Amino acid sequence: MLSDIHEASSGLVARLRLAGPPCNAFGTDIDDLTVMVTYETPTRLHVVIEDTATHQFRLPTQFFPRPIGEEISAGDSDLAFNYEPSPFAFWITRKATGDTLFDTRLSSLPTAPTKALDGEVLDGFQLVFEDRYLQLTSALPLDANIYGLGEAVATSGFRRDISQNGTIQTMWARDAATPEDENMYGSHPVYLEHRINATTGASASHAVFLSSAAGADVLLTTPRGAKQSLVQYRLLGGVLDFYFFAGPTPIAAIEQYGALAGRPAWVPYWAFGFHLCRWGYADLADTRAQVERMRAASIPLEVMWNDIELYHDLRDFTTDPVGFPPEDVRAFIRELAARNQRYIPILDAAIPHVANDTDEYLPFLTGFARDVFVKNPDKTTFVGQVWPGYTVFPDWFAGGVEEWWGEAIANWSALGVEFAGLWLDMNEPASFCAGSCGTGADLTNTTPAVVFPGEPGNLVTDWPEGYDAHRWGTSGNISVDGLLTFGDSTAVRGSALAVPASVRRATRDPNDPPYAIHNGWGDLAEKTLAPNATYAGGIVDLDAHNIYGYMEERATFRALRRIRPDERPFLISRSTFASSGHWSGHWLGDNFSKWSYLRYNIQGVLQFQLFQIPMVGADTCGFNGNTDEELCNRWMSLSAFVPFYRNHNVRGAISQEPYRWDSVALASRAAIAIRYAMLPYWYTLFADVATNGTPPMRALFFEFPDEAELLSVDLQFMIGSNVLVAPVTTPNVSTVTAILPGRGHVIWREWYKHLEVAADATHNSVELNAPLGHIPVLIRGGSALLLHAQPAYTTAETRAGPYTLLISLDATGAAFGHAYVDDGISPPDTVGAIVNRTLRFDVSDSALAISSSGAYIITQTLTDITVLGVLAAPSGVRLAGGLPAVFTYEAGVRRLNITGLALSLNENVRVSWA
Ligand code: NOJ
Repeated sequence: MLSDIHEASSGLVARLRLAGPPCNAFGTDIDDLTVMVTYETPTRLHVVIEDTATHQFRLPTQFFPRPIGEEISAGDSDLAFNYEPSPFAFWITRKATGDTLFDTRLSSLPTAPTKALDGEVLDGFQLVFEDRYLQLTSALPLDANIYGLGEAVATSGFRRDISQNGTIQTMWARDAATPEDENMYGSHPVYLEHRINATTGASASHAVFLSSAAGADVLLTTPRGAKQSLVQYRLLGGVLDFYFFAGPTPIAAIEQYGALAGRPAWVPYWAFGFHLCRWGYADLADTRAQVERMRAASIPLEVMWNDIELYHDLRDFTTDPVGFPPEDVRAFIRELAARNQRYIPILDAAIPHVANDTDEYLPFLTGFARDVFVKNPDKTTFVGQVWPGYTVFPDWFAGGVEEWWGEAIANWSALGVEFAGLWLDMNEPASFCAGSCGTGADLTNTTPAVVFPGEPGNLVTDWPEGYDAHRWGTSGNISVDGLLTFGDSTAVRGSALAVPASVRRATRDPNDPPYAIHNGWGDLAEKTLAPNATYAGGIVDLDAHNIYGYMEERATFRALRRIRPDERPFLISRSTFASSGHWSGHWLGDNFSKWSYLRYNIQGVLQFQLFQIPMVGADTCGFNGNTDEELCNRWMSLSAFVPFYRNHNVRGAISQEPYRWDSVALASRAAIAIRYAMLPYWYTLFADVATNGTPPMRALFFEFPDEAELLSVDLQFMIGSNVLVAPVTTPNVSTVTAILPGRGHVIWREWYKHLEVAADATHNSVELNAPLGHIPVLIRGGSALLLHAQPAYTTAETRAGPYTLLISLDATGAAFGHAYVDDGISPPDTVGAIVNRTLRFDVSDSALAISSSGAYIITQTLTDITVLGVLAAPSGVRLAGGLPAVFTYEAGVRRLNITGLALSLNENVRVSWA
């Protein structure tokens, strides 16, 4: 019960004691708790329940800055905190509507029966606060629309399953190859809930973030027969530290989360180019050959990557003296640079242990001397095992670790690996033992403990759904001259993979906490550190496991800022946590060459928009298993409309570079040309997310929140407000049935021919033509998009060319757009500023006004303006000062083409037609 309640205008502080005898369910009840409620901003409310003695783990604020001292008067908040002192319960309401958003009152939760989630027993809903088990439950509307909680490959889709079978989202960072409905690389205890009022039709979103790194299960379910659904948090430690964000639009709620967690890093312009990678480029000659073949096939390649073949004996910060002599690597990277291309190598988290006394591997020796490695509880160095054999793991909490890491990176770059960005892999961290590899390990044994894919015993034999290797052979070819194809398009909805069910196992040893979260592998130590592995300051991995990747991303970003002060660091990392986006992008990990994973690609990218890690994408054409021509074709097209665009493949699978099949080459050229034309738009969206947290990629309901039919749509998506993409996601089809948001009030025009697309009035849907190699893309009426007029081989060459403006008028003849332009590489200065220019495009009454402001000088001019939706042929087009401009008008498409311009974008411009 609550006592000693001190209410202030900005919240309250109170003492919370056990209401009855301790239950000691999975640990020891902590009797003396403090409840702190702070109205921090009009849209953010902070509720903490913590042990008064502050012994429980908290996210260290030097690594996870949280606003300090931000508070407002409760009267100015959109949300209200309500409570009952005994038994203590609280509920959060939205003032404007009176809606209860979060509610821990037992009376509001469903009573018996409490069986849900396929036999998982909900033991009870009371608040539990023990050293190693914390539980809090909130009632939710029946079948609530919940998005987020991850990282997940959710079979239910982007909208999470909250039915009786529901969801158990486990948070325990795990090197698991993208299993369905299990925990995997990253931990994101944040969700967005969206509601549409059945009576008024009005919608509102809010978000809930549990600021905790604890291993956890978050349950979403509806007990059988219940009138409400619920969310239950079960944590293995820490404190209950909740933030509630008022929205009320989905985008506003996500922005508010970004303001708290830390908004995403600025990314360099080149990062939006096409990236090529594979595990299996054996040496530099092989790597260089890819670059040459891509150019020979005229498929733009911006960034070439290498996987662990780059390394000598699979060791970080080295290059293989035979396959990748360092001087040759340097020469290669400089050749790339001379052609405006770049290079990114892999960097694994684990550091090889030296094999013997004569082994002069400096990153280990200097790190050991500086005491920057994770330890066992007895203070000896913790030893695990990764590719190079036995390894140690950087302790990101140790003093001096960042300098040590930064020096190793700088030395590697000086050696010849003049990277443009880094790929952070295996940072859950992954290890091939269950916990410590034990004392007495034979450190001289440097043979990797696993059979590499492609080697006998681990051959890659799997194919996409429907591909019959017996019939069609092992080339992955499916077509002649780009014609269709094969397969049974109806048989691919579900998963092609048998994944083991979650295991709930009994406590095995003291290293395991008493409550068993639903870690996909059971034992928390499996394939990672032991939960009792210890960081500086006595922090145990059980408390800090989920932030290992985050800590590495932060340390690496900061090291790169020191090494290359004039450039924005670019990182792509596997294991992420809340606010990782502030330092890094993410790829969705080891997916499968399956149509189901092409579809999961979309929900994955949408999830990470919510998590504020917008620079995200999947291994295009699929990583595990062999791909085939059709899947690779469709996937190259899809990923061109996703922020991070990289084709990556497992060792031993058939090759899948986009030049391998003519149809894929054709599809890739076409899609990349659109992507590069749209670069100013992408870049502006990323400026918006870096400054405001506005997600660049959007689920349809983010933009059209009142349209209930959009809430489960996750095979279409939007880029910003103005571009709608409806990719092909199944084999052997040549059309896509797309829903058109806006319920007939929005005009949609397709990108290619600029024709208006009319929806079927009952379903707001339309069948779009999508032959192999063609991805349907629609432009919203009312938008103005600044584009590059001449997509070229690289982003630098593209950017050096002129601009064009595409205006798609709405039914009133109006349109609006904006663009952000800077040099594409300079990092923000100490006050967060970058020299830039902002353009606004306002169209109404047959006139366009461009307003330009800022200090950055745009040297390229605007040469063309295309206006769609002009109903009648204008008699003339005039620039400011009455100067006539050259134009044509096409009545069939209602298109006005204004050409031959040379307008400076550094000044305000006016163009009118009548
Ligand atoms: C695991 C990564 O997820 C994958 O992308 C990479 O190719 C392999 N490690 C080998 O480094």
